[in-house]
Amino acid sequence: MELISPTVIIILGILALLLFLQRKNLRGPPFIRGWIPWIGAGFEFGKAPLEFIEKARIKYGPIFTVFVMGTRMTFVTEEEGINVFLKSKEVNFELAVQNPIYCTASIPKNTFLALHEKLYVMIKGKIGSVNLYQLTGPVTEELYEQLENLGTHGTMELNSLVRQLLFPVTVNTLFQKGFFPTNERKIREFHQHFQAYDEGFEHRSHIPECLLRHWSKSKKWFLALFEKNIPYIKTYRSAKDNSNTLIQTVLDIIEMEGYEERSPNYGLLLLWASLSNVVPVTFWTLGFVLSHPSVHRTIVEDISSVFGTAGKDKMKVSEDDLKKLPLIKWCILETLRLRAPGIITRKVMKPIKILNYTVPSGDLLMLSPFWLHRNPKLFPEPEVFKPERWEKANLEKHAFLDGFMAFGSGKFQCPGRWFALLEIQICIILILYKYDCSLLDPLPKQSPLHLLGVQQPEGQCRIEFKQRK
Ligand code: HEM
Repeated sequence: MELISPTVIIILGILALLLFLQRKNLRGPPFIRGWIPWIGAGFEFGKAPLEFIEKARIKYGPIFTVFVMGTRMTFVTEEEGINVFLKSKEVNFELAVQNPIYCTASIPKNTFLALHEKLYVMIKGKIGSVNLYQLTGPVTEELYEQLENLGTHGTMELNSLVRQLLFPVTVNTLFQKGFFPTNERKIREFHQHFQAYDEGFEHRSHIPECLLRHWSKSKKWFLALFEKNIPYIKTYRSAKDNSNTLIQTVLDIIEMEGYEERSPNYGLLLLWASLSNVVPVTFWTLGFVLSHPSVHRTIVEDISSVFGTAGKDKMKVSEDDLKKLPLIKWCILETLRLRAPGIITRKVMKPIKILNYTVPSGDLLMLSPFWLHRNPKLFPEPEVFKPERWEKANLEKHAFLDGFMAFGSGKFQCPGRWFALLEIQICIILILYKYDCSLLDPLPKQSPLHLLGVQQPEGQCRIEFKQRK
């Protein structure tokens, strides 16, 4: 028998070593796969997704992959992974959100990809910081009208109060004056359908529409509403300055690009984006302010020093007035820090190295603003409501604090963020100018169920309001 030559042994040895090194290089992050085919870790994850992420970080380290409902989600929680999420050219926003958008608003992939960047740039310009001054007046007017409906005093559930004010204000400002119903039955119908649509939004990407009957009914209700009203919305012109509303500009682009049949779907998507986060953020901000007596007192004094003490007068709010009330903006941002969205997401296009792991293409890369905002290196005493920490942010230059990601980040950061902040600021000013307010219940905990968007309250909280004398 002929012996294998030493050269062959060396070559085989090198090959084996190379293979080993390659395998080592391609080692994926710790993998939580669960034991049920396709569902994976879906049940444990779905019970309380935010808690699941934090427990997994403690157990598996700063990067780990979770397999849920046929999807691989790789979470990055520390510096290196976060930098890749924010800066790598191999991760993509559009391909990460395209499927959820198809599932929730029936906008097909090719339509979404053809229109996305054009629509994004336009929305960012139309309601961005430069044009915001045009919206201060209409938002104040609309809010003032809605506050009139509250009367001189009352007790309400805080979330209902905020919805009652901000649904019509947002819809009438961004879509068309008078688009929000005024008839009581139709208002109730709008609220019920929005709540159902919002609640199912996050589940629809994993559950077929036929199993979400309520959600599907509400989606169809909104699509029909837009179908019917789009011809009127298109021809509407503001009596004051003949300007276009946000949705009109969106519809113009969709039509110009030849995708007119999808106009109602974009109407629905914009409606959801403009209402779903603003309402809970306003709820929590008012809740935090009213449960911190010294912050509440200072804000009321500040408002009186800018607008006078009489809560009955109709007032105008200008950009300059808002600049004189920084504490209110800090309270909103501090609230956003504490109740930030559970996740933002990008799709991995080519395998990427993070720490000693390789994240394969096709994975969804996930970053949790909620947990990032609880990193004590970025935000000392992270669980404490401390509006004064925002004094250090250069808000004049439109910069938030480092590590603040409630509006996402990078090229496709939320284009509605300046409008959202403006609307919430004016809402809080007008409420606290007109009424003496107090909470009748302790502020509820946040629900553990939400990952998408800002955190929702778990229970109810009543507010008592009396017109100031
Ligand atoms: C406090 C309220 C709001 C919060 C916390 C919020 C948060 C976010 C976040 C986290 C994203 C994803 C960004 C990313 O992945 O990097 C986003 C996207 C978006 N937001 Fe907001 N948002 C708010 C209010 C609004 C409002 C009032 C509008 C009004 C039109 C709006 C319109 C949008 C749109 C259109 C997108 C998608 C952008 C794209 O497709 O590229 N948002 N928002």
